[in-house]
Amino acid sequence: MEQEYVHGYSESEARRLHDQAQTLSGLLHADTYYKDGERVLEMGCGVGAQTRILAGNSPLAKIISADVSEDSVRQAARLLNELRCDNVEFIVADIFHLPFDEQEFDHIFICFLLEHLADTAEALSSLKRVLKKDGSITVIEGDHGSCFFHPNSPDARSAINCLIQSQASAGGDALIGRRLYPLLKEAGFREVTISPKMVYADANRPDLVEGFTKNTFTAMVEGAREKALALGLTTGKRFDKGVMDLYRTAQPEGVFCYTFFKAFALL
Ligand SMILES: C[S@@+](CC[C@H](N)C(=O)[O-])C[C@H]1O[C@@H](n2cnc3c(N)ncnc32)[C@H](O)[C@@H]1O
Repeated sequence: MEQEYVHGYSESEARRLHDQAQTLSGLLHADTYYKDGERVLEMGCGVGAQTRILAGNSPLAKIISADVSEDSVRQAARLLNELRCDNVEFIVADIFHLPFDEQEFDHIFICFLLEHLADTAEALSSLKRVLKKDGSITVIEGDHGSCFFHPNSPDARSAINCLIQSQASAGGDALIGRRLYPLLKEAGFREVTISPKMVYADANRPDLVEGFTKNTFTAMVEGAREKALALGLTTGKRFDKGVMDLYRTAQPEGVFCYTFFKAFALL
C-alpha cells in the first residue's frame, strides 16, 4: 500500500500536509470537538498535521492516531511530543486490519484517506466494527472536480486531470468528495450530514493564496509529474505549462476556488 500511495512520503509532501492542515484549520475543524474522556480513533494520521489540531481542540479526549506508514507515524509522534500534547497515542495500523476490539471508540475521524483506497466500502466496514453503537464518524475529503480558477487554462486542467488519473490508476478517487453521502449511507451509517467547505482565494486573502493555492493544491498537482509521465498521460512540456498556469492563479489578478466535503454520521 505504501508504494501505491500517489502523493508519496517525501519531506516536501510532509510539509505540504502541514501547510494544508494549518491553512484550512478554521474552515475544516471549526466544529470538530470531542468531549472529556471520549476515545477517538484518527485513521490515516500521516505526519500528524490534523492530529495536532484534533488534540488541541479536544485536550481532554483520548485520541488514538494510526497510519500504515511507520515513518509517518514516527514523525507525527515526534511532533506531538514536541508540542507537549499528551492526549494522543500513536500506532502503525492498516485500516483493513485494525488491531482493536469491537466497539472500542466513541468517535472516528478520517481526513484525506478514503480518496486513496480502492475498497472504500470495506474500509468503512472495518471502521464500523470498532465504533460504539451511536458513535460518530467524521470524514473530510476533497474533490478535484470542484476547482475552478482565473485565468482559466486548458493546460492547467490537463495537469489536474493527470493527478486524478494517476490516483485512479492506483485504485483511488480524487473526485470522492461528491460521493461521501452515498458511501456512508450504503455503509449503514445514519443521520449522514455533508457540509461543503469552499475555499476562495484571491489577492485579498494572501494567507489562502500562499497556504492553499500555491503550497497545498498546486504543490500537490506538481508532485504527480513523474507518475503522469510514466503513465503516458501527458508530455513534460504540457504538464509544466499546466503547473505554471496554476501558479498564475496565485498572482495578483488570479482567483482559485475549491470545495472540500466534511461528512458527519452516526452508527
Ligand atoms: C493524504 S495523507 C493524509 C494524512 C492526514 N490525514 C492529513 O490530512 O494530513 C493520507 C494518509 O493515508 C495513509 N494511508 C493510506 N492507506 C492506508 C491504509 N490502508 N491504512 C492506514 N493508512 C493509510 C497514508 O499512509 C497517508 O499517511
